[in-house]
Amino acid sequence: MDKKPMYEGKAKKMYTTENPDEMLVYFKDDATAFNGGKKGTILNKGILNNKISTFFFQLLGQHGIPHHFIRTVSDREMLVKALKILQVEVVVRNIAAGSLAKRIGWEEGTKLPTTVVEMYYKNDELGDPLINASHIKAMGLASEEQVKRMEEYAVKINSILTDYLKDKKIELIDFKLEFGLYHGEVILGDEISPDTCRFWDSETKQKLDKDRFRRDLGDVEGAYQEILYRLTGEKFS
Ligand code: TMP
Ligand code: ASP
Repeated sequence: MDKKPMYEGKAKKMYTTENPDEMLVYFKDDATAFNGGKKGTILNKGILNNKISTFFFQLLGQHGIPHHFIRTVSDREMLVKALKILQVEVVVRNIAAGSLAKRIGWEEGTKLPTTVVEMYYKNDELGDPLINASHIKAMGLASEEQVKRMEEYAVKINSILTDYLKDKKIELIDFKLEFGLYHGEVILGDEISPDTCRFWDSETKQKLDKDRFRRDLGDVEGAYQEILYRLTGEKFS
């Protein structure tokens, strides 16, 4: 494949391919938190997140959610549709945790009476500030119709993932999505992994996600392996 480096982010690298409609994503082991303030490496994270994201994209595709995943290329690479990423991060929350728990003063672990959907401006220099639909419209980040579509997909994705994970004894606390335009249509991009979701063991409430890195809880790699195992039965070592 004739790949050319296009963009390097904190956890992934993007390459153009000979086909302008397709891009290659390379998943790194690098981990950051607090907008790059904390840096580290999670051994084999790239491989695990490539596998876990692939699993989730395929699951969502089966439920009618359009997404960018095309096929696996190698243990750290997936071929995806080339999207024009909307500069909005969509966060869906079922249980108060992280920045929401702090913002509204609710104890982490408190069930939210209704699902909360939030939008953040994807801008590292500003530290991804919380914004609303009216900011998005004024800033020209997305049209009103595109915002509605992202919200609609986010809520649907939440119910598909929550239902699926329940059987695997995983509680879906919250997660972040990114969408982009592909030939004018809003479709799901980026990744869905323990980097971008909070997963708790349903019974023990043990954290099985990147909070283990953010909060120095130890056995970060084991948590990512456990998620892959519960989803696919694959024992990674
Ligand atoms: P938060 O509670 O820190 O705002 O995070 C909400 C969700 O979004 C959580 O599942 C982790 C995910 N997330 C990202 O994927 N990238 C980020 O940069 C941040 C801050 C959170
Ligand atoms: N990805 C974010 C960063 O470094 C933070 C996070 O995931 O908590 O910057």
